[in-house]
Amino acid sequence: MSNLVRYDVQNGVAVLTIDNPPVNALSPEVWEAIEAAVARGVADPSAVAMVLIGAGSTFIAGADIKIFDVLKTREDSLARSATIHALLKRLEDATKPLVAAIHGNALGGGLEIALACHFRVAATDARVGQPEVLLGIIPGAGGTQRLPRLCGAQMALQMCTDGKPVPAPRALAAGIIDDLVEGDLLTGAIAFATAKARAVKIRKTREITLGIERVRAGLEACEAARAALAKTARGLGAPFAAVSAIEAGLQRTFDAGSLRERELFAACVVSTESKALRHLFFAEREVAKVPDIPKDTPVGEIKRAAVVGAGTMGGGIAMAYANAGIPVLLKEVDDAALQRGLATIRKNYDVTMSKGKMTAEQVEKTMALITPTTSYDGFDQVDIVTEAVFENMELKKATFAQLGKVTRPNCILASNSSTLDIDQFAGASGRPSQVLGHHYFSPANVMKLLEIVRGRDTSREVIATSLKLAKRLGKVGVVVGNCFGFVANRMLAYYMREAYLLLEEGASVPQIDRALTEFGLPVGPFGMQDIAGIDVGARIRQYLTSIGKTRAEGPQSAIPDRLYAMGRYGQKTGAGWYKYEPGSRTRISDPLIDQMAEEEAAKRGLERRPIADEEIIARITTALANEGARVLEDGYATRAGDIDIIYCHGFGFPRASGGPMFYAETMGLATVLARVKEYRGRFGDYWEPAPLLEKLVAEGRGLYS
Ligand code: 3HC
Repeated sequence: MSNLVRYDVQNGVAVLTIDNPPVNALSPEVWEAIEAAVARGVADPSAVAMVLIGAGSTFIAGADIKIFDVLKTREDSLARSATIHALLKRLEDATKPLVAAIHGNALGGGLEIALACHFRVAATDARVGQPEVLLGIIPGAGGTQRLPRLCGAQMALQMCTDGKPVPAPRALAAGIIDDLVEGDLLTGAIAFATAKARAVKIRKTREITLGIERVRAGLEACEAARAALAKTARGLGAPFAAVSAIEAGLQRTFDAGSLRERELFAACVVSTESKALRHLFFAEREVAKVPDIPKDTPVGEIKRAAVVGAGTMGGGIAMAYANAGIPVLLKEVDDAALQRGLATIRKNYDVTMSKGKMTAEQVEKTMALITPTTSYDGFDQVDIVTEAVFENMELKKATFAQLGKVTRPNCILASNSSTLDIDQFAGASGRPSQVLGHHYFSPANVMKLLEIVRGRDTSREVIATSLKLAKRLGKVGVVVGNCFGFVANRMLAYYMREAYLLLEEGASVPQIDRALTEFGLPVGPFGMQDIAGIDVGARIRQYLTSIGKTRAEGPQSAIPDRLYAMGRYGQKTGAGWYKYEPGSRTRISDPLIDQMAEEEAAKRGLERRPIADEEIIARITTALANEGARVLEDGYATRAGDIDIIYCHGFGFPRASGGPMFYAETMGLATVLARVKEYRGRFGDYWEPAPLLEKLVAEGRGLYS
């Protein structure tokens, strides 16, 4: 018998313990070992029933996601899922009661195995779910057929289309599980199995029939789900495929419905959407692994924090700490600024409360963790300070010099600068090993990305502590190097430059924004800049000019600076790239921008022309990928996947395309390189192929190999 599933008999019940750390993922060997263990239990005269349980922290987290890479064609997938479907039927046909005992998570194939067992019991804090859709696939081991038979189509549709796990008490109420076990799960499961063995009757989920009324309601729910997904999941395949599979189960026999599920699963698993989402699943976990920061690097504990600056960013960062239960001092220069910052925080929490996501009591408790101050009193007690003052080198250096004096020597000093040189702050602080960048994205209490910017002298312990802290704050921390704009904003400069140039060449602001939102971004470049503030970019350009640099070499559009000079900073001033009615965020296109584009085109001797949406997407994604390749080659990002994570979490780059680098890889790096060369011929030398791109294409390699 394999070690993957251990077998022993306790009180007349065979206990089958799956042991495949860390999460008991179902490799082909685990599926087989489960079947063998069940067969042994059935044949064992000393066992009257069987309990299937997981070792370690969880029941089963699902099929081994790596296995899907092996399924190259639809036919491979159909064959594989036929094997699994048949195996699950054999489990279900076992002649002794088979009870799944769930703790931690029963997800994907893990829940599907449990559904094929005769009964399910769970620890009170366990969760069950069908998260396949988040990987661009649908349940492929009978989940779309068995789950609705237990909980009805409506709930199954919800679970299979949003992928969110359901807590055990809710699963019990819905009929997905049969009992909750307080105390020791195995003891409770053995008692349950013994009682069921006495009651004799084995219940096969696949034989449950939904009455005619429930079928009709289910079919209506399928239609409603499709209509809702048309708004929320536009362009995606898997959520719609899940609906179709459940619908087939309502209309056909179990076997015919299962065949439909297998066909739909097979189409999904070879789709680009699924490959991209599976890539992000692993990239999200890989990101925490930094080559020269071993797992055993000492990690400091963050018990108290402070934030300097209560503006939009500082306030959001203080909220992120408070939300994680960490007390935080929030410092401003004077009481008026402090009160403004606190009022914004209060307003944000009120909005959260009005959406029912927090109770009044929770809001008060969380707000109480934020201590406003106009002095540095108490800074000698904190473990980390995040500086979020105005984006100005001298001001930030002065702040770091002060922080070096008022905090303990082992306190981490982080800057929320979005562009400036961290090493200069490190020098000013007098203890460079404790200094690094913590670059949050607005709104900082919501956006999941945290760029952890490593300075020349930042210690390994400070980086490791930051990675752990990011997780605690509910963020994805990505370690990046200290170049101008780090990774996110350095690449963004190329994205924005291309948007400005497309505008001058003949596209319009609404067209460019629409093309990119149809591509899948939540907001286009101009809408985004109106939210962030046109003044922010203008001040950065002024600073760069003062030190003799530019953000992205090549032609620069004068329009952003013209808007800045006119006081059109975006939403906050009622006009920017768009116009806004007072108190409204609705974007109204402005003919003045087209006029400016015509003037700037004339100055550059450009004949304006109609530009297709495809060209907009191609130029902007190519600009991102080319600069991303430079960032990688220069060592400012560890892996191409880290850049993908930065763009998906920081800017809402469509996950179903896997991030800007994965999108380039999907296009084919040779195609991307050919485009860069074509653009150089058409638009000028500022389009210069990244050497890494040329090298990879010449060697026939990819960004991820
Ligand atoms: N396959 C392969 N590896 C998996 C895995 C899976 N299903 N689930 C988790 N892992 C790996 C992770 O990559 C990670 O590896 P690493 O340590 O080398 O980085 C390790 O297990 C631990 O995972 P997490 O870091 O995510 O641990 P957490 O404790 O934070 O979360 C979890 C645990 C909630 C189970 C989370 O890992 C998770 O959501 N897993 C994926 C669940 C899922 O999507 N299941 C469906 C799979 S598809 C399927 O079952 C198809 C079926 O219908 C046929």
